[in-house]
Amino acid sequence: MRTKLVAGNWKMHGSLAANLGLLHAVRDGAGGAAEVALCVPYPYLAQAQAALNGSKVAWGAQDVSEHAQGAWTGEVSAAMLADFACRYVLVGHSERRSFFGDTDAVVAAKFVAARKAGLVPILCVGESLAEREAGITGEVVTRQIDAVLGGCEITDFAKAIVAYEPVWAIGTGRTASPEQAQEVHALIRSRFAREDAAIAGGLRILYGGSVKAGNAAELFGQPDIDGGLIGGASLVAADFLAICAAAA
Ligand code: PGA
Repeated sequence: MRTKLVAGNWKMHGSLAANLGLLHAVRDGAGGAAEVALCVPYPYLAQAQAALNGSKVAWGAQDVSEHAQGAWTGEVSAAMLADFACRYVLVGHSERRSFFGDTDAVVAAKFVAARKAGLVPILCVGESLAEREAGITGEVVTRQIDAVLGGCEITDFAKAIVAYEPVWAIGTGRTASPEQAQEVHALIRSRFAREDAAIAGGLRILYGGSVKAGNAAELFGQPDIDGGLIGGASLVAADFLAICAAAA
């Protein structure tokens, strides 16, 4: 009942010249049952919009300001993203949390700002290796979710997505096993079910962290894994399209 979503996260990669081939290849190759989206760097949103408009591939950004407007040099508001017809925006990616100081409270505020502008936030959560080894994965992920739930309505999650991304699996080539991922996905869904069973049942929970063509089908076959958030493999059209096909 949940349509799978495969979202690419280009991170800080690309150029006008290089993007064009990738955008067109993904646009022309994405044909299956899964939804497909690309989260591109801000300067390339107009290019993504021009290339993907009218296709089945949606686009979005990788971060958003928690502020609506004003003297916030360097920031980009949710309304600006909506101006470029973004459907999605990542909030709380672990690289934002660990390198740019996005606290749970900031992530919650960004989530609310995105929802206010009609965007679909993709809320990223996940534990570090030390946290997993300390046996506190569930605690960490629950804390990250509760911070957002504390600042919004549960109904906001009818128009939001969660991505479980164990930090130790991002860009490392080390993937959570399907069983490890499923266990956390089930925990995340049960956390939302405590608030609203119907919203929890409809909530798409993506897995992210070294997803490749070779491991995607097994991950996406788990009952609570509703697609993927794809970093490195989203930069190569054939790899990304193979992952999209594995979700269809
Ligand atoms: P990766 O990145 O697929 O390169 O591990 C995933 C992410 O950071 O979203």
